[in-house]
Amino acid sequence: MDKLVIEGGIRLKGEVAVSGAKNAVLPILAATLLTDEPCLIKSAPNLRDVNTMLKILRALGKNAEMDKGKISVTSTKNKSFFADYKLVSTMRASFCVLGPLLGRFKKAKVSLPGGCVIGIRPVDLHIKGIRALGVQVNVESGYVVANAPRLKGGSVYLGGIFGSSVLATDNVMMAAVLARGKTVIESAACEPEVADLAEFLIKMGARIKGHGTPIIEIEGVAHLKGATHTIIPDRIEAGTFMLASLITRGDVLIKNVFYQHLGALIDKLEEAGAGIVKADSSLRVYPKRRLRPVNVTTLPYPGFPTDMQAQIMSLMAITAGISVITEKIYPDRFMHVAELNRMGARIQREGPHAIVEGVKYLSGAPVMASDLRASACLVLAGLIGKGRTSVSRIYHLERGYENLEEKLRGLGARIWREKE
Ligand code: UD1
Repeated sequence: MDKLVIEGGIRLKGEVAVSGAKNAVLPILAATLLTDEPCLIKSAPNLRDVNTMLKILRALGKNAEMDKGKISVTSTKNKSFFADYKLVSTMRASFCVLGPLLGRFKKAKVSLPGGCVIGIRPVDLHIKGIRALGVQVNVESGYVVANAPRLKGGSVYLGGIFGSSVLATDNVMMAAVLARGKTVIESAACEPEVADLAEFLIKMGARIKGHGTPIIEIEGVAHLKGATHTIIPDRIEAGTFMLASLITRGDVLIKNVFYQHLGALIDKLEEAGAGIVKADSSLRVYPKRRLRPVNVTTLPYPGFPTDMQAQIMSLMAITAGISVITEKIYPDRFMHVAELNRMGARIQREGPHAIVEGVKYLSGAPVMASDLRASACLVLAGLIGKGRTSVSRIYHLERGYENLEEKLRGLGARIWREKE
């Protein structure tokens, strides 16, 4: 296993390009199961999670190959509607094959994904949503077994106690595109990645309206065709580089960005004192004045993303004053707090809140990554920490950041990989 070693204290400068969005490419790859025709996905990031999804597609009867950011998916004769535990348990997003398998085969057997370090992560909304399409669903021996000889449109309210669900919206939308009649999803997730999936489905011949808003309407069609699609830029990777620039008091031009997808983060960082220059597809980020603390509450899109909560905590950890960070999507997503405190941060967790008292400096230390975004938060802390930080278990980072250390090195960071 590798670890990342960082010598902190370098101001990052220069340009960096963001890769395609992980959370868009995964459901879009699942959507290729809705057709037998070839599909081509461009701007696909080379990530561990993407490779896991390619393995799942192959197990379900597709040829799926990635070459220089392009993934081509074609069909074989060995189609399957069974996604087994070994595949689904390695990545929660693989549960989004349920909707396309149902749409295509009118039946599916998909392993329940289980919990993970950021919380219990139930699938009740997914099940509620597909039941609304006339699907019979049973949970048997850890599998969701779904049958829908007559898959038909229906209305469903998909809001849960933590708001809307991204992958449940994806699953229902992907089943509904091949159902008979009209489906209305209320309290649908509005995340740009859900809208990107809808755009891909529309290219395949689906009839969808309202994606990107809380009410999505889908008119089922009999057949979908192959399509070519370019994945939107990863707003969480872009946000991570914005914070890398600010935490090191640097000046970074981030390219291949849709700043429209980053409204809540831009607003918070400007409030904290960042200078942010927006151009067509780039953002320049630098500290305009001495940074001050801001309070942050995570919410479904267009609110502040839970996937940026850990990273902004690193910045607040070295910003003089007190900030309160409230997690409303995954109330237990605070594994990074103890590791930041090992580096000298002063953060106290109280239920869904983290109270951060900014310190003058962080000290480099050996720390352990617990999940994808917590790993990014520790790398950010390492960039500013005095001395050397080593982040172990970086396979978490490889799940969601393409070439992170090369990209940071390109901005001047002293960061490299070592064997543990
Ligand atoms: C997606 C993202 C993940 C992000 C999360 C929230 C992908 C591949 N992953 O995950 O990076 O952190 O959105 O923005 O796109 N919930 C239920 N019942 C359900 C489903 C979800 O109660 O059936 C709860 C979850 O526990 C959580 C909240 O709803 O508290 C939002 O989760 P959800 O949007 O479903 O997350 P994912 O789609 O799994």
